[in-house]
Amino acid sequence: MSQRVALVTGGTRGIGKAIAIALKNAGRTVAANYNGNDDAARAFTAETEIPHYKFDVGDFPAVQDAVARITKDLGPIDILVNNAGITRDGTLHKMDRESWDAVIVTNLGSCFNMSRAVIDSMRARSFGRIVNVGSINGQMGQYGQVNYAAAKSGIHGFTKALAQEGAGKGITVNAIAPGYVDTDMVRAVPPAVLEKIIAKIPMGRLGRAEDIARGVLFLTADEADFITGSTLSINGGQHMY
Ligand code: CAA
Repeated sequence: MSQRVALVTGGTRGIGKAIAIALKNAGRTVAANYNGNDDAARAFTAETEIPHYKFDVGDFPAVQDAVARITKDLGPIDILVNNAGITRDGTLHKMDRESWDAVIVTNLGSCFNMSRAVIDSMRARSFGRIVNVGSINGQMGQYGQVNYAAAKSGIHGFTKALAQEGAGKGITVNAIAPGYVDTDMVRAVPPAVLEKIIAKIPMGRLGRAEDIARGVLFLTADEADFITGSTLSINGGQHMY
């Protein structure tokens, strides 16, 4: 694989960390974004030698500045992985507006902000790989997640629309829909609820972050130039879509 520059949002922990490491091991020059956990970001860079960049993917001007900075440091971005995401779970009748907005802005607004910041350069260079991390819960819904399911479902529509726009310019846009993966986010689900969810996974286990990273590698390869607008479900058979 050629020395392409990749940016992974939410790339210092969980699924994003596994994606960043896999891309680096495949010879990519990688930058990892994060926004909250400074200690984890420092530990990540010490372990992987992948630089971290702190900014809020939901903040449009901050994203434009950060992408300009990363481009100056590493070169124009060839591969964008929109992975950053949060949950604010709760049933609709208990959910406040802030929990709705935070999840929509961070999980879905970020795809616009990030893609908008890299698209001109990708178009000019006639090459781009964008992978958006959706969710099984964007495909099938989930009790207690109207905000998250709506945002993730939106990601799948966003992917198909941008794929059409990129096709004539060498830019592929795909989504991955992870199932329940063993990360801090899933460990925050109440144990009794999680037990019931695992019982519904035919493979009988949670996913591993590396299971998702493998899909990102596949979709971002130079050779994957005829795969666009698709959604790759990686969920242990929990939902066959
Ligand atoms: N279907 C039907 N009923 C359900 C249910 C479900 N899936 N889950 C809970 N209920 C019922 C409960 O049985 C309970 O009923 P009773 O009052 O009759 O006993 C009622 O709903 C209220 O449940 P709780 O007491 O748990 O209500 P709560 O307000 O305290 O919490 C919740 C609700 C926040 C949704 C909590 O159940 C929860 O966190 N659920 C997990 C949601 C989830 O799976 N999130 C995924 C996070 S990981 C992720 O998002 C990554 C990814 O992409 C996969």
